[in-house]
Amino acid sequence: MNTTNYSSSNLPSQFDIIIVGSGAAGLYATLCLPEKYRVLLVSKDKLRTGSSKWAQGGIAAAIGDDDSPQLHLKDTLHAGAGICDRAAVEFLVENAPSAIDSLLKLGVAFDRKQNKLATTLEAAHSRPRVLHAQDTTGRAIVDILTAKVLAKPNIQVLPQALALSLWLNPQTHRCQGISILHENQIIWLRANAIVLATGGGGQIFAKTTNPSVSTGDGVALAWRSGAVVRDLEFVQFHPTALSQPDAPHFLISEAVRGEGAHLVDIEGRRFAFDYHPQGELAPRDVVSRAIFSHLEKTAPNPANANVYLDLRGIETAKIRYRFPNIIQKCQEWGINLFQQPIPVAPAAHYWMGGVAVDLMNATSIEGLYAIGETASTGVHGANRLASNSLLECIVFAAQLHKLEVETINITEVESLAIETEDWSGEIEEIELIRKKLPAVMWHSAGICRTQSILEEAIVQVSHWRSQLANLEISKYILNLPPNQNIQFQSVAAQAQLKLATETLNLLDIGYLILKSAAFRTESRGGHYRTDYPETSETWQVHTVVEGDVWQTSPIY
Ligand code: FAD
Ligand code: SIN
Repeated sequence: MNTTNYSSSNLPSQFDIIIVGSGAAGLYATLCLPEKYRVLLVSKDKLRTGSSKWAQGGIAAAIGDDDSPQLHLKDTLHAGAGICDRAAVEFLVENAPSAIDSLLKLGVAFDRKQNKLATTLEAAHSRPRVLHAQDTTGRAIVDILTAKVLAKPNIQVLPQALALSLWLNPQTHRCQGISILHENQIIWLRANAIVLATGGGGQIFAKTTNPSVSTGDGVALAWRSGAVVRDLEFVQFHPTALSQPDAPHFLISEAVRGEGAHLVDIEGRRFAFDYHPQGELAPRDVVSRAIFSHLEKTAPNPANANVYLDLRGIETAKIRYRFPNIIQKCQEWGINLFQQPIPVAPAAHYWMGGVAVDLMNATSIEGLYAIGETASTGVHGANRLASNSLLECIVFAAQLHKLEVETINITEVESLAIETEDWSGEIEEIELIRKKLPAVMWHSAGICRTQSILEEAIVQVSHWRSQLANLEISKYILNLPPNQNIQFQSVAAQAQLKLATETLNLLDIGYLILKSAAFRTESRGGHYRTDYPETSETWQVHTVVEGDVWQTSPIY
């Protein structure tokens, strides 16, 4: 078993391919790459940290006798509200059954019913096509993928290594490597291909189901290097995150509603049908807005209010079998879901936008690829269909088995410089911005948006961006000399650089989301404008951003 965990002192300076991120997308891509390549997988925290491990509901695939990829296609396009790229969705749904087959062969233990794979229903699916492993499907997948990755001799793994920047060739603009922060050092690593698999950016919002690593790093790094990013205004707000004082916004899976739980208000009234004929199982954006509107109408303080998810109509044995993790998490917060409804409210859950890629995961920068939630493949459109994300991670990451990389000239890394700088004096200012930013984003670019509030937030976030850019630590990070490894003497440097890097990234993605939301003067899927509540045919286009230029591009 290859358990080589490099320290900075013995880390080679060149790999054929570097994957950034160890969620489902990064792990599966790493496994699929041809074995002839020397691959490095870097991840900014422990290996099994990311949204993938937290995924509950499952992974979608048309495997039932009454189902077909065509029906899965239809549901995905419908949820995507007119801006999915059809070819990308076709690719996704047609490859879904074989992706499941591959996971089964690797040993992922999906639940079974009478010897057949069990499937459940989730919102906006016309068939029960979501495979699951109780309510910890992500963990079941990630555990197996991690074990397989660690067993491969051509793959080296480097946890606790934060990708700081992309390394572009100044003449050709080709991506030729990355800089990372690891063990109090900045290290430059060359590779023939860099694959960003850094997940989403939920931490930009005050209420999110996402883990702390979801700070939008991949999108920020790619955008700063000039890559085209796309559809960043489309954020999915999950209707049912735990809403309990001081508790994290732990996800209460949609599968719970799929199995028959009801959304009720404080009076115990089932209100979702007031807003959509599919009630609780309407598309996610619809249900989240229904909760938002209902609270606006009925609660004295709607911003902090919640509704309830009542599971008491579901058989106790079924709940115990299907949702052990949810039962336990609720118990930890003093809720016995067999006896009382769970307090829930919407929270930012998934970012449909990302780095624009083609079916081979190639971005607009040569040598740079993006997969998983970081990428915009075109499959999710304005609103992702439940359980299509894990599927996208697997189906698109598998494409990397076709990756052919050219050899590039090796330039030896310069000597190691010693850095005595310590930025303690600037940290408080950064922490304050980091603390305030999510509340501004939730208020302005949350479930309901409007021009004047978006513009106020753009002014505020732009101000914070300039403020941060003027700090010495930011100038340092943004102007690192390429190919110069650096050892920090101060033990505090690592934590300071991490905080500043993530805050720079969060501010950049905040700015991109706000500007994109202000740019799109209509409502569609996960982007709802109270001042433009209708969907407009002229806006049936992607929003593409390159540098500071916002444009539209056709749907394919
Ligand atoms: P992640 O799994 O988030 O992994 C990102 C990785 O990148 C992490 O290892 C992180 O540490 C690393 N990283 C980030 N930045 C850097 C950096 N700068 N340098 C180095 N490493 C970095 N989808 C479904 O289809 N079905 C579900 O049931 C489902 N349930 C969900 C439940 C929850 C609570 C959440 C939050 C999401 C859920 N989703 C679900 C969505 C889905 O889990 C994610 O979209 C998907 O797992 C993303 O996978 P990923 O590999 O792209 O990113
Ligand atoms: C859930 O279990 O509700 C999340 C599923 C998803 O995000 O696809």
